[in-house]
Amino acid sequence: MANRQILERSRLAYPRLERNEPCWCGCGKKYKKCHMEFDERIIAFERQGHIVPTRDLLKTAEDIEGIKKSAVINMTVLDEVAAVIHAGMTTQEIDDLVYSVTTKMGGIPADLNYQGYPKSVCTSIDDVVCHGIPSDKTILKEGDIVNVDCSTILNGYVSDSSRMFMIGEVSDEKRKLVEVTRECMLKGLEQVIPWHFMGDMGAAVNAHAKANGYSVVREIGGHGCGNAFHEEPFVSYVSAPGTEMLMVPGMVFTIEPMVNMGTNRVYEDEDDGWTIRTRDGLPSAQWEIEVLVTETGHEVLCS
Ligand code: MF3
Ligand code: CO
Repeated sequence: MANRQILERSRLAYPRLERNEPCWCGCGKKYKKCHMEFDERIIAFERQGHIVPTRDLLKTAEDIEGIKKSAVINMTVLDEVAAVIHAGMTTQEIDDLVYSVTTKMGGIPADLNYQGYPKSVCTSIDDVVCHGIPSDKTILKEGDIVNVDCSTILNGYVSDSSRMFMIGEVSDEKRKLVEVTRECMLKGLEQVIPWHFMGDMGAAVNAHAKANGYSVVREIGGHGCGNAFHEEPFVSYVSAPGTEMLMVPGMVFTIEPMVNMGTNRVYEDEDDGWTIRTRDGLPSAQWEIEVLVTETGHEVLCS
């Protein structure tokens, strides 16, 4: 191999093999007959200075099946929450329901004990942006908007999604925030196209929020997901087109923008070390889906 090539290999993070070596994917074929062309395509982007995924972020067919099975539980849990959530209910009751449905179906709530998090789910009401901790002292009331963010581990595979719920009659202002935030997530989803960039997705989310007079939280975002709870990359929803990581078939990540009615500034509760609130006390909404990049576009694995 020419020195120049050796040098370049050491500069590039994305590893490549010799043409006749067995392919890294475990198919048993030679590299040149399997992933060589795919890898060359990624390397071409890396040479241009783009951020590319490491190989461990690319899910196998088996991984995807595992994530889908986990997602069946996660989506069932959220359906069960949707069926019973009402004014007068405590957020602890939601937590109890999440724990019991998840474990009865053989799963583990991914939130529970995650970096010391004390509950099985996050329940974030009005000005709580995310990571609201369920409590028997927090009672849902008419007019609240609440995000229920649920994550499940099954056989080591992780699913992650969240939905907004409107409790009874909600003001037009809050309803609009909830609806536009869902649209933001879907605008981002439309941009999940292989060989495009994560920044294309983030920019679409941000543009729709801005067009409606809202702001998008910068400090907290989404993440790769599936073989672990929080994988690379950090996913921004205020990014610019053509920037951030290249989207490659097999990548799985979340689209979960937090959209604020007022300022995008947020702060963490000093006492519990988890709850994130808006600085101005105005409401915030969030929806989350877990998405697979496919050869032709995308597939929503969990919603
Ligand atoms: N479910 C959140 C996410 O979407 C993470 C919550 S971590 C917890 O990434 F510890 F607060 F539960
Ligand atoms: Co998430």
